[in-house]
Amino acid sequence: MNYNVIAFSGSLRKESFTTRLVKAFAQLAPQHITVSYIDIGQLPFINEDLEANLPQSVLDLYETIEKADGVIFATPEYNRSYSPVLKNAIDWGSRPEGKNKWKKKPVAIVGCTPYSLGAFGAQNHLRQSIMYLDMVPLQQPEFYLGQAAEKFDAAGNLTDDATKKKIQELWEAFASLIEMHGGKK
Ligand code: FNR
Repeated sequence: MNYNVIAFSGSLRKESFTTRLVKAFAQLAPQHITVSYIDIGQLPFINEDLEANLPQSVLDLYETIEKADGVIFATPEYNRSYSPVLKNAIDWGSRPEGKNKWKKKPVAIVGCTPYSLGAFGAQNHLRQSIMYLDMVPLQQPEFYLGQAAEKFDAAGNLTDDATKKKIQELWEAFASLIEMHGGKK
């Protein structure tokens, strides 16, 4: 059976390491999993006033989440938490009240920084949010990529073999989790 995983980067920066990491996850995905990168830069700031007449970008996000068998959240670390861009998308997906689109979706959290802690603080906060949203988290392996600037070439391709191996290990576990949930939508 084929599965559809949607992947989010919490950085809008053109040369973002986080977005490069998402692309590496897409390239190294198992054959039966298609990964779609979801651009969240066009979403308005979360505002309940907009719920009376939702913008197309939010409606598109709802449809995308509903069709997904699994989710990857890749985040940079901003002041020991995950990025507001990503939180904004997650908050939209949790609305309107009582219609949380993330519920029961298998999810893997990953992150990177150019420094040493691999976005641990960011992922830790993000983990708290996905538990509240009743997602199905991949518990292990965790994925913290430090020194991100040394892991990609000038074109943005992942060049570090140890990181590629970690991505493959995560995919093995995440594919099993998704299969266990049977791609429930
Ligand atoms: C950062 N950065 C950062 N890095 C880190 O390891 N821990 C942190 O708490 C923070 N805090 C932080 C706050 C803000 C507002 C910015 C803009 C940046 C640095 C960050 O890791 C670095 O800019 C990354 O390159 C951002 O990820 P992308 O854009 O490369 O994906």
